[in-house]
Amino acid sequence: MRNSNREGGTVITGIFITFEGIDGSGKSTQLALLRQHMEELGRTVTVVREPGGTVLSEKVRTLLLDHRSMDLCERAEALLFSTARAQLVYELIIPALERGEVVLCDRYAESTIAYQGYGRELPLEEIITLQEFATSHLHPNLKVLLDLDVDVAAARLLGSFADRMESAGLAFQERVRQGYLQMSQAAPNEWLVVNGSQPKEKIAEEVRSFIEQNIFKGS
Ligand code: ADP
Ligand code: TYD
Repeated sequence: MRNSNREGGTVITGIFITFEGIDGSGKSTQLALLRQHMEELGRTVTVVREPGGTVLSEKVRTLLLDHRSMDLCERAEALLFSTARAQLVYELIIPALERGEVVLCDRYAESTIAYQGYGRELPLEEIITLQEFATSHLHPNLKVLLDLDVDVAAARLLGSFADRMESAGLAFQERVRQGYLQMSQAAPNEWLVVNGSQPKEKIAEEVRSFIEQNIFKGS
């Protein structure tokens, strides 16, 4: 087992961008469009999704999303998401950033803060501290929040497989949405908040131009 502390010499030269938002907000769609754009520009891109991306994290994902799963308590749920993330950071994200790649991540620490902290109403400060521990204090260069009405997002998902998390209801999604908005308002320099109800291409263009002007400036 290798030591997973980041103290002691790792050099991060890559760019780390995460996509956040309620279920059905369009994260996967935008991540794919940004990936394509970055690759067309000749950049090496690593894409990861949460929870998942490593053998351990995929097993945790199956456990978490299984309809018939045991009566998982809220704290265990928060710890499982964080466990999957710790392994993903250690095994994939940090090595890719050390190689100088662009890492695009479908959800990251802010998902646990939004869903388990604001949504499930677990103690917020403790959830935030847990994220610092799980990620070895690795923060994204940019967090893209796709913000939209919970009803619009739910309508998009109608007919698709409603997993255990998505069936938690609209009131829950609304708390999650408000949690994201509070986080982004508290630290506006860390976030790009986009109106997620716009057409896909319009959102993609907004994300691309923001990143080119603010994240890749001069490179
Ligand atoms: P998420 O990954 O956030 O759950 P997805 O990217 O999977 O969201 O999108 C959920 C659904 O909404 C998909 O059917 C997708 O095609 C559709 N969708 C994504 N972005 C938009 C958009 N801007 N306008 C309308 N529908 C969208
Ligand atoms: P995901 O597969 O990203 O769903 P979607 O593409 O529909 O947004 O995530 C599955 C569910 O897990 C989703 O409802 C969000 C939830 N989740 C948490 O509750 N906490 C977390 O830390 C993460 C990463 C996801």
